[in-house]
Amino acid sequence: MINNSNLKIMSIFGTRPEAIKMAPVVKKLEEAEGIESIVCVTAQHREMLDQVLNLFNIIPKHDLNIMKSGQSLSEITCRALMGLEKVIKEEKPHMILVHGDTTTTFAGALAAFYAQVKVGHVEAGLRSGNMYSPYPEEINRSLTGRLAHLHFAPTEGNKENLLREGINQKNIVLTGNTVIDALLSVVDDKYKFDIDLLNKIDYENKKVILLTSHRRENLGQPMKNIFTAVKEVVIKNKDVEVVFPVHLNPKVRKIAHDILKDIERVHLIEPLDYEPFANLINKCKIVLTDSGGIQEEAPALGKPVLVLRTETERPEAVKAGTVKIAGVEKEDVFRLTDELLNNKEEYNKMANAVNPYGDGRASERIVKAIKEYF
Ligand code: UD1
Ligand code: UDP
Repeated sequence: MINNSNLKIMSIFGTRPEAIKMAPVVKKLEEAEGIESIVCVTAQHREMLDQVLNLFNIIPKHDLNIMKSGQSLSEITCRALMGLEKVIKEEKPHMILVHGDTTTTFAGALAAFYAQVKVGHVEAGLRSGNMYSPYPEEINRSLTGRLAHLHFAPTEGNKENLLREGINQKNIVLTGNTVIDALLSVVDDKYKFDIDLLNKIDYENKKVILLTSHRRENLGQPMKNIFTAVKEVVIKNKDVEVVFPVHLNPKVRKIAHDILKDIERVHLIEPLDYEPFANLINKCKIVLTDSGGIQEEAPALGKPVLVLRTETERPEAVKAGTVKIAGVEKEDVFRLTDELLNNKEEYNKMANAVNPYGDGRASERIVKAIKEYF
């Protein structure tokens, strides 16, 4: 048995959403007695990762700096795996923590397995049931589950998914989602933006739509359909303003600029830091997104969400009525958005703050479970 006083835990992450959701865990690990917490970033994302590291004041001990423009999945996997092998060999942690479903997540878990180091999987057990949607995240998450020793399941449904796959109940910990821990630390009703454009928007009298889209399975025609629908919504509804912080993926940027640049009342802006972004969710009227994390944040702030995908591995808020799956066809996205903007009854039905994803104490439970495990 390892003495709790010399427990070395290494958190590995690489993209913006992993960093946001791991930041509260890293902070709790740093505070915990008897734990040496170290962070290794693959930097699968560069600028968007650094935004989060700066905000939460996290200084990685190792930075693999693997990002290349237009990187393929195999490239990310290989570069991450090669870099992680060396770091794990040097650090010899007792446990590696990975988060969610990115390629960094899977490579991190696989590198840990190769080195026979224990794996803790944060945000475990979400399943869409379709291996190509979200692609490749559904399989990244399932394979990471196969490699993990401790599974931190955000919801009861996530836990049931793991049990159905034969994971031993004693290795599953119901924690809530750490995204709520992060969200609660940055949202403030009196928040003022540093960005002029965002301060000037009249959130009371205009109908502000917050739009994001970046999923690999939406690149190409689905994304064109979505952006064209948004353009038509804006042309029809003169009281609508759209704020779209555009992902740094060049493929996303091209489609966004081709369809939405110079459209009146559509603001294409750079990715926002997490603090202004979360506060923008809090101020907008509706959210259109294909993001996973935003599907969890917006319901907690009482904002209706139309999910720009054909299915979701996060059914909880759909069940609660705050989130609807809009799909990726132009007519559907247009119709559902237009309805939400103009049908008060429908809007009010969806605009209830529900929070099936946690109480803000997920990180605390994760650290406690790690200590108990050893
Ligand atoms: C990845 C994750 C996805 C997650 C998303 C969050 C995988 C397979 N996908 O998306 O699950 O939802 O991150 O945003 O792991 N880029 C920059 N700077 C950045 C970030 C990205 O320039 O800070 C550009 C680069 O050209 C990069 C491209 O965006 O090659 C795509 O980045 P990548 O991590 O490959 O994105 P996704 O796979 O789309
Ligand atoms: N986010 C952000 N700035 C932005 C857009 C999103 O900080 O301009 C945050 C958002 O609040 C959420 C996370 O990034 O916590 C979601 O990341 P993304 O949509 O890239 O990935 P996903 O959640 O789909 O994996």
